[in-house]
Amino acid sequence: MINLDWGKLPFGYQKTDYNVRSYFRNGEWGKLEISSSEYISIHMAATALHYGQEAFEGMKAYKGLDGRIRLFRWMENARRMQSSAHGIMMQEPPVELFEEAIFKVIQLNKRFVPPHGTGAALYLRPLLFGSGPKVGVKPADEYCFMVFVTPVGPYFKEGFSPVSIQIARDYDRTAPKGTGQYKVGGNYAASLRAGERAFKEGFASVLFIDSKEKKYIDEAGPANFFGIKGNKYITPLSETILPSITNKSLMELAADMGMEVERRPVSVEELAEFEEVGACGTAAVISPIKRIVDRDTGREFSYCKDGKAGPVSTKLYKRLTGIQYGDEEDKFNWISFVE
Ligand code: PLP
Ligand code: COI
Repeated sequence: MINLDWGKLPFGYQKTDYNVRSYFRNGEWGKLEISSSEYISIHMAATALHYGQEAFEGMKAYKGLDGRIRLFRWMENARRMQSSAHGIMMQEPPVELFEEAIFKVIQLNKRFVPPHGTGAALYLRPLLFGSGPKVGVKPADEYCFMVFVTPVGPYFKEGFSPVSIQIARDYDRTAPKGTGQYKVGGNYAASLRAGERAFKEGFASVLFIDSKEKKYIDEAGPANFFGIKGNKYITPLSETILPSITNKSLMELAADMGMEVERRPVSVEELAEFEEVGACGTAAVISPIKRIVDRDTGREFSYCKDGKAGPVSTKLYKRLTGIQYGDEEDKFNWISFVE
């Protein structure tokens, strides 16, 4: 095993040994190739470079106390990548290719899977892009699907400590009937200005609001949003939100804990009624939120009065990470082992 300061890893890029690639050419996907290069050679007229034909996934591999490596709900990521591909007219990687690629890339980089108990995990970044040339605005005829890995710590430096976020109405991440529900690069490009400004103003992330009525909560930066009200787990529903696999799992865990689950539009006004709020995602895991500031009105919503995550968020976090790291029974069959 490589010697890294596992407990202090940021959510950043760290070189590993290998990545894997497959190219779609002449109407078929090629054999999976193994590479130790961090670079890809790509045609200057590739549609990914000009017209944003690019989608990605994010998933994690976890090491249990038993030393076994666990992947969490990978089939969901495979399907979501197909949905993203479909959304921007790219060739969909077959589930079998996705499966072969993710298992292979973990096996090839086993020494980078962080030890159990460090809070770190091996992040997998599957990537799909139009690699074939076009000058007219058209989908490419050739595609590259690849997966690289990098060991990571928590996305927000605060980890499971509560963060402050900012409502910004002067930037939209996406639009109704746009690409918000797909994991495509353009959505992230559109979020950069608001995100960097929020960061400079002292916030961990932006809370995006729907672009039409400027009234409903969309997403918490690169994560879904949820709120707890009494015995209810409430999370926004809209066509612009990426269907988070973490959020889906939290909804299932909340229901399993006897909570009511509501998936519906959530207005900014309703923020005043929640006892706990948080951001959730593969990278963010659960990031409890202590303060939401509306940049336009100056209005503030406060949570975590004692400075700590609330009891429901804490329980959900423990159960989710307990399953992911193999400390809790995998009663929903979410885990696949990488041998
Ligand atoms: N929303 C956005 C915009 C994201 O980028 C992510 C990250 O993948 C999520 C939500 C969380 O999704 P998941 O839980 O599947 O990682
Ligand atoms: C993830 O949670 O996996 C993400 O992709 C979020 C982000 C780093 C873009």
